[in-house]
Amino acid sequence: MAKFVVEFGKAVPPAPDGRLDGAAFHRNHDAIWSALADFLSEQTGDVLELGSGTGQHAVEFARRAPHLVWWPSDIYPSHLASIAAWRRHAGLANLRAPQRIDLTDPDWTWAADGQKDGGELAAMLCINVLHISPWRVSQNLLAGAARLLRGGRLFVYGPFMRDGQHTAPSNAAFDATLRAENPDWGVRDLRDLTTLAGDAGLTLADVVPMPANNLVLAFARAPAKSINAKNGPHAT
Ligand SMILES: C[S@@+](CC[C@H](N)C(=O)[O-])C[C@H]1O[C@@H](n2cnc3c(N)ncnc32)[C@H](O)[C@@H]1O
Repeated sequence: MAKFVVEFGKAVPPAPDGRLDGAAFHRNHDAIWSALADFLSEQTGDVLELGSGTGQHAVEFARRAPHLVWWPSDIYPSHLASIAAWRRHAGLANLRAPQRIDLTDPDWTWAADGQKDGGELAAMLCINVLHISPWRVSQNLLAGAARLLRGGRLFVYGPFMRDGQHTAPSNAAFDATLRAENPDWGVRDLRDLTTLAGDAGLTLADVVPMPANNLVLAFARAPAKSINAKNGPHAT
């Protein structure tokens, strides 16, 4: 069964420079990248990661997509310090300093180069966060994506239920462990997230199966309704 980490560095202490190591990163980053690579290869601009944890995904993906500017974020000071340490260690020109973004804040936004509101994003990424946070984090993530994405996508990785059913016994056991730890946590249902997305003006554009019964969900802005659509396709 999968284990969950609330705050990295409790079991394995950081390196002397502050870099933390997440075990799951080593297992999942190649598969996650395979779900992002084609879309990102055609984008320009900024990618914002929410709940970046140690910072290892941000470093690895910034290295693989040097044409994009990567903006990591998290809530814990120890994680922000780790991301900063990984950034110093990697020395990548396209990886920016971490910023504190708390998805429990419905008005969360991001900052770019001293501007209070970073503006439009090419993509957003959120890995293994939604099951280990209250439902309002899912709500605020999707609402934020609707505010900040134009042609871009929000990619969300993790375990998910489908139509009220767990996709594997191990995910059901993981869900029970999460809910026992905190009743506000739990494996989210794809159907509920799709409803949230629709309410926010987004659609579920893609669902990519991942190893170990995980998924990558890709949300996109719903296409604007044609002015003529309400009158039917043959209206003049
Ligand atoms: C299981 S860890 C995953 C970290 C990283 N994305 C990874 O996959 O290695 C969950 C992350 O969500 C972050 N997190 C929890 N609550 C959050 C919130 N309200 N806003 C933003 N991030 C949050 C935690 O600090 C932690 O880094």
